[in-house]
Amino acid sequence: MPLPIPRLGIISALHQEQAGLIDNMAQPQSVTRAMRDYVSGQLWGIDSVCVLSRIGKTAAAATAATLIERFGVTHIVFTGVAGSVDAGVAVGDIVIADALVQHDMNAAPLFPRFEVPLLGQALFSSDRHLSDWLFEAAGRFVAEDVDKMVAETDRELFRLHRPRVHRGLIGSGDEFIHGPQRRVELREAFPQLLAVEMEGAAVAQVCFEFGVPFAVIRTISDGADEAAPRDFMQFVERVASRYSFGIVRRLCGLG
Ligand code: ADE
Repeated sequence: MPLPIPRLGIISALHQEQAGLIDNMAQPQSVTRAMRDYVSGQLWGIDSVCVLSRIGKTAAAATAATLIERFGVTHIVFTGVAGSVDAGVAVGDIVIADALVQHDMNAAPLFPRFEVPLLGQALFSSDRHLSDWLFEAAGRFVAEDVDKMVAETDRELFRLHRPRVHRGLIGSGDEFIHGPQRRVELREAFPQLLAVEMEGAAVAQVCFEFGVPFAVIRTISDGADEAAPRDFMQFVERVASRYSFGIVRRLCGLG
């Protein structure tokens, strides 16, 4: 039975995080809207719309809203990279969000810290079914594809072991985390936080408001530490693109 996803929106921040997907689309059609190219077509049998949001929460929110309102997607997956803030989550691992929080939201003392004002919540849960399917897809990618898709030299360069697939809390903010102080502050605020990035929780809020199921999957590019800026760029170029492509291909093939 095909996956019950009538029209899938796939967002990434950077083109490297979506490399290969559009090349594999059947009958791709591109429409430019508000400075972004939305490419619609069939991805391994699933009607899909791919788009690059660029970096940050505003960019991601605008993109998600346009996907829903203008392009009629029924589900959204955000795929990209993140920094790890948990000792058990290594570079090359995969994190699927159970929930997301905007870690830079702070309207205190008017509203509790981290709560989205007037919405009454800080944490946004991702869709269970979509996240389960992504988890299964990521598992198959790790078991069967990753060794073939990531060059051995790159696996050595980044000291990649067999990736583990984690599920848990992801934090998003308009901030690239690259040092111990912010890492510690974030972990104190959210002891269960696994990874940080700059878009997911904004997409989560938009999807929550529209009632559209969504999921976020991230490959860990760096340790959100001093080495993060260097590790991030290299990893995105050489590794992350293969992960996103491989996992989305497995997701579409689940049905
Ligand atoms: N995306 C990837 N690494 C990140 C980091 N360290 N901080 C924020 N977003 C990221």
